[in-house]
Amino acid sequence: MTIPVHEIQEQTLIDHEAGAVERIERALEILGDDVVILGHHYQRDEVVRFAHFQGDSFQLSREGAQVDARYIVFAGVHFMAESADILSRDDQIVILPNLNAGCSMADMANLEQVLTAWAELEDVLGEDPEAHIMPITYMNSAANLKAFVGEHGGTVCTSSNAHGALNWAFAQREKVFFFPDQHLGRNTGRDMGIPLHEMVVWNPFKSYGGLTDEQILNAKIILWQGHCSVHQQFAPGHVDLWRERHPDINIIVHPECRMEVVEKADFIGSTAKIIKTIENAPAGSKWAVGTEVHLVNRIKNEHPDKFVTLLSPFSCLCSTMYRISPLDLATVLEGLVDGEVINQISVPEDIKQKAKLALDRMLSIPK
Ligand code: 13P
Ligand code: SF4
Repeated sequence: MTIPVHEIQEQTLIDHEAGAVERIERALEILGDDVVILGHHYQRDEVVRFAHFQGDSFQLSREGAQVDARYIVFAGVHFMAESADILSRDDQIVILPNLNAGCSMADMANLEQVLTAWAELEDVLGEDPEAHIMPITYMNSAANLKAFVGEHGGTVCTSSNAHGALNWAFAQREKVFFFPDQHLGRNTGRDMGIPLHEMVVWNPFKSYGGLTDEQILNAKIILWQGHCSVHQQFAPGHVDLWRERHPDINIIVHPECRMEVVEKADFIGSTAKIIKTIENAPAGSKWAVGTEVHLVNRIKNEHPDKFVTLLSPFSCLCSTMYRISPLDLATVLEGLVDGEVINQISVPEDIKQKAKLALDRMLSIPK
């Protein structure tokens, strides 16, 4: 989604006028070691500059499991804060500065739909689907889906360890049920040499996913029909355009991009891998990057000796991440100073235990 520049400027002005920066700094000084701020790479600079730890989804979940502070303030989106709550100690409190910071992809699969799909798969594959098919949920999903996966022997994966997760799954079962991001599943499967006709798409709005028994029986990976609205915007034509203008340019994209884009790219990787690859590239090298605009702008500003640009001519912005403002951060931190917990993310205990099984599996699988 594109947010007009004047709205961005207005928001910056509001934060500035409210003295958000000074308020955050003051609160952090008082709270000291009691609070840790975790920030995802897609957060805007005005927020992420306060993060004690900045990372991709995998790094943040690993960090979330090790943090010692009493309060974990998550500058990310809802599913990330839920995962931090699942992995943190019982006496720790996780806070999302703005409860509207969700993820449109995570919203594309819910428990009812997944339970229906599982029952229908059972119908086709036989009594015990667990003997045949491994559920894997992308980190970008609700806690109750992680619990479903945990309960059925599966794992969570992120964009940086999807290969490891699929290898782990195929060592145990012949098929994988992958949700909610069809693109990450397809790109990873393709990279592992799985033919396209063995990766079918499950449409949650049709009975049996809109698939025939034969398609289900012959599939290696059943991909949920979900996608990221930000990465979906990158198109193969964007790659052609940059190559035309700069024949020596490198194209690097996130695996949430469509396969047609990934196929044309030189490098594919999670946000952390994108950062590292460009960091390690020689001065003067050129990069067109297919991921969220705040991260691309940050990389560009940090490497003035390299040519770095967004792959798309349009501003590919994660509008839900963007909902967290410095003002939100100031409000929740000042709340803590006053002894008030605002916007706590608390996963119910029964869901937490099962989801933790799936997250712990993910953390133990080699990448
Ligand atoms: P990573 O953090 O795994 O790169 O994923 C990007 C993303 O879409 C987070 O929502
Ligand atoms: Fe969700 Fe896409 Fe935003 Fe990531 S970038 S939080 S997948 S909408």
